[in-house]
Amino acid sequence: MSRLNILRYPDARLHKIAAPVTEVNNGIRSLVADMAETMYAAPGVGLAATQVDVHQRVIVIDASDTRDQLLTLINPEILAAIGDADCEEGCLSVPGIYEKIARAQHIVVRALGRDGQSFTMEAEGLLAVCIQHEMDHLQGRVFVEYLSRLKQTRIRAKMQKQQRQSA
Ligand code: NI
Repeated sequence: MSRLNILRYPDARLHKIAAPVTEVNNGIRSLVADMAETMYAAPGVGLAATQVDVHQRVIVIDASDTRDQLLTLINPEILAAIGDADCEEGCLSVPGIYEKIARAQHIVVRALGRDGQSFTMEAEGLLAVCIQHEMDHLQGRVFVEYLSRLKQTRIRAKMQKQQRQSA
């Protein structure tokens, strides 16, 4: 396993649209293992392949307090979404920024797991928000892009400054 480099907003590669996985093979399982290691090390609650510059529909999430409930979603689809969630979101690609975004409170998702088998699950609260956030990444969308233009401009400037300082 190896840790992967996480793209930082406003990197243009975060806007690429991920392609569906055609076969859950060893290459995909190895990507999942590396993404999980990268997410746990960060530490973060979720990571989409887009964020490590791999443009395939793969997500890893662990929203548990115990950090031992790894969820892998390959080619995820939302079948139902209801209610209004109320949680602050952050993102490993936009460090230090936390904002509330309009998301569904309760969702039903269908995806493939690491074994390539299709499964359907329900999620609510933080886990539901996290799944919606990561699925947005696969569509090339970063959560701060839901905010006002003014806020986005400020966040972009802050991120660029951080990157200059760490360069
Ligand atoms: Ni994110």
